[in-house]
Amino acid sequence: MALIAPSLLASNFLRLEDECKMLNNSVADWFHLDVMDGRFVPNISFGLPVIEQIRTATTKTLDVHLMIEEPEKYAEAFAKAGANILTVHIEACRNLHRNVQQIKDLGMKAGIALNPHTPISSLVDIIEDIQLVTLMSVNPGFGGQSFIPYTLQKIKQLSQLIAERGIHVDIEIDGGVTLANAKEIIAAGATVLVAGNTVFKSANPIETIAALKGL
Ligand code: DX5
Ligand code: ZN
Repeated sequence: MALIAPSLLASNFLRLEDECKMLNNSVADWFHLDVMDGRFVPNISFGLPVIEQIRTATTKTLDVHLMIEEPEKYAEAFAKAGANILTVHIEACRNLHRNVQQIKDLGMKAGIALNPHTPISSLVDIIEDIQLVTLMSVNPGFGGQSFIPYTLQKIKQLSQLIAERGIHVDIEIDGGVTLANAKEIIAAGATVLVAGNTVFKSANPIETIAALKGL
């Protein structure tokens, strides 16, 4: 059974309070919040003021996925806004170890996200310092894209690396997760599933979350 982290990028922003209540009433574990700056990815989503508001609407874990350049400039502000987990992209960090320490010093769990082209081997010297790896199973920037099948091999490689070290690090899969492919993703070793469109565009999001959780 994996943790379920619905991505509010696919929610109805006009009804954000209701969407938060729906997630509160569901078996969703984390709120996955996608922050985009129009530089690291070719899209702009939402930022600090929205996350501050969401913080007042839930006690569940806020899993903040930063798709931004220079994330070190904003880590403190995201901590103040209420983030529990802060994930930065390896491709956006020149001083990744320092950034990870900063996130932990601010009292948050540290995550590292890898784009589809970034190998698992790039984590070997940092894996013991972090709590979460987010493997992008689409190119980041947009919801509603198709799952890249090669991700399954990366999940297996990462599970093996974590097992070899004898540590616990969550493996989160982000992009194109559906009810049809989630089982295979979990079997490969994923411990957290992000789901945007699959949850929010379904006829019954609460049931869809429960179905994902039941796999
Ligand atoms: C993509 C984001 C994802 C996205 C997932 O850049 O990081 O979290 O919202 O959306 P779906 O589940 O619709 O692919
Ligand atoms: Zn994301």
